[in-house]
Amino acid sequence: MNRKYRKTVIAGNWKMNKTPSETKAFMNEFKTIMPKGRWCDVALCVPAVCIPAAVRAMRETRVGIGAENCNANASGAYTGEIAANMLVDAGCKYVILGHSERRAMGETDAEVNAKVLTALENGLVPILCVGETLEQRETGITNEWITMQIKSGLNGVAEDKIRKMIIAYEPIWAIGTGKTATAEQAAEVCTSIRTTVRHLYGARIARSITIQYGGSMKPGNAAELLAQPDIDGGLIGGAALKPEQFVDIINAANQE
Ligand code: 13P
Repeated sequence: MNRKYRKTVIAGNWKMNKTPSETKAFMNEFKTIMPKGRWCDVALCVPAVCIPAAVRAMRETRVGIGAENCNANASGAYTGEIAANMLVDAGCKYVILGHSERRAMGETDAEVNAKVLTALENGLVPILCVGETLEQRETGITNEWITMQIKSGLNGVAEDKIRKMIIAYEPIWAIGTGKTATAEQAAEVCTSIRTTVRHLYGARIARSITIQYGGSMKPGNAAELLAQPDIDGGLIGGAALKPEQFVDIINAANQE
């Protein structure tokens, strides 16, 4: 983290977990144990049907609610899809885009890029996810792969908009596996992402952009990961489903 130059953001990604009623129960418990400090921003990205319950429960708090995807089009004949302006109207602040689980369902870099542009136009904060497979890591092409994902994800994003974005580095082999990247591995890629942003947008913007790590982040390893200067927060799956674990991670981010 480097609080002098950029925001620390701890975000949960609930994936396909919890019903609206369970959302309400989680938020009520979370609110009672939530740290009062103002060090880091906190976000919870939830299934679309849980957004109204989450927004209602967290209205008086500083926790921002987000979605896990949106469609790149403004409106129209896209059965089952949700447009960015609908998310905004429902009270969302954030949207996760290009998560590896969605890319595995066929989402392409070009689609992710189109979604990033639409989300920004609508005033959402996109959390752009990038990450390599174990095979890519073992072949030694991690940095090239991530650089390519960043360049295509940010294609056409204007300088005044990039400042609002968050980039999340999520090595696919560390997601939901209990296998965390070592702090050193995570830091190396996050630093390389910042270098790519510097080449694209210059030093000032690179210094101010929030880069998260995601992949089995939990109370036991959060502090070490967040101590890395280029890791400005976490995108948390499993541990964000339990209020006390999520709070422990926020507390780790709130340490000096
Ligand atoms: P886990 O924290 O469950 O490994 O999930 C990480 C993730 O995919 C967050 O987007």
